[in-house]
Amino acid sequence: MLKVDNIDVFYGGNIQALKGVSLEVNEGEIVTLIGANGAGKTTLLKTLSGLLKPKKGTIEYLGKSIGGKAAQGIVKSGISQVPEGRRVFSNMSVEENLELGAYLRKDRDGIKKDLQRVYALFPRLLERSKQSAGTLSGGEQQMLAMGRAIMAKPKLLLLDEPSMGLAPIMVQTIFSIIKEINEEGTTILLVEQNAHMALSIAQRAYVIETGKVVLSGDAKELQESDEVRAAYLGGL
Ligand SMILES: Nc1ncnc2c1ncn2[C@@H]1O[C@H](COP(=O)(O)OP(=O)(O)OP(=O)(O)O)[C@@H](O)[C@H]1O
Ligand SMILES: [Mg+2]
Repeated sequence: MLKVDNIDVFYGGNIQALKGVSLEVNEGEIVTLIGANGAGKTTLLKTLSGLLKPKKGTIEYLGKSIGGKAAQGIVKSGISQVPEGRRVFSNMSVEENLELGAYLRKDRDGIKKDLQRVYALFPRLLERSKQSAGTLSGGEQQMLAMGRAIMAKPKLLLLDEPSMGLAPIMVQTIFSIIKEINEEGTTILLVEQNAHMALSIAQRAYVIETGKVVLSGDAKELQESDEVRAAYLGGL
């Protein structure tokens, strides 16, 4: 579904954030990208959604080259990103935020159905549909950011650290919903620092360090590897 081949991404000409990164996501998978602060995870997701342009290398999505294409066209083609730190519109209601997620769509009936689907996935959002988004808890805002991305009807959902700053119980809830979204047919690329949780729901994983993919493979195998345990699982 997605094939990233040897991309270099820079900020402002001389800060190189990605160095020859390659990765693949197959349709139906949950693939996770784990790595420490500053490793380049967000940079990769922003490049996939067209917010940054690779200086070198190619990105292929459903057989077409999308490297350097404009963000709006990429959303239309079915890639939708849940940004790090949620970024909901605080002064707008929950429902207005969700409707914004569908702003490029014209299929009114489909949009209505997807709104019901989001409320079925996140009953908490239905209860709070008229409340302004800024009054939601961190976990609820994460739900809203995910719901908003689903409203774009993605084939591939990019999630940037959905567990960040959440209590363990809320992390469990968010991860079980990610699994459910995947089981309903959406392919997922999950960026996380919570390696333990991410590896437990993903089929495959990539480990990124200072802009380079240093390890990749079956999620279960990586979870058991000494290298990953020592560096990302607190030596567990
Ligand atoms: N707008 C920017 N301008 C310059 N450098 C940047 C910019 N954004 C990120 N960087 C640098 O690029 C590198 C990768 O950052 P990135 O945000 O992709 O990391 P990350 O893996 O998402 O980290 P975190 O887990 O902290 O979110 C870092 O060295 C960072 O300082
Ligand atoms: Mg980041």
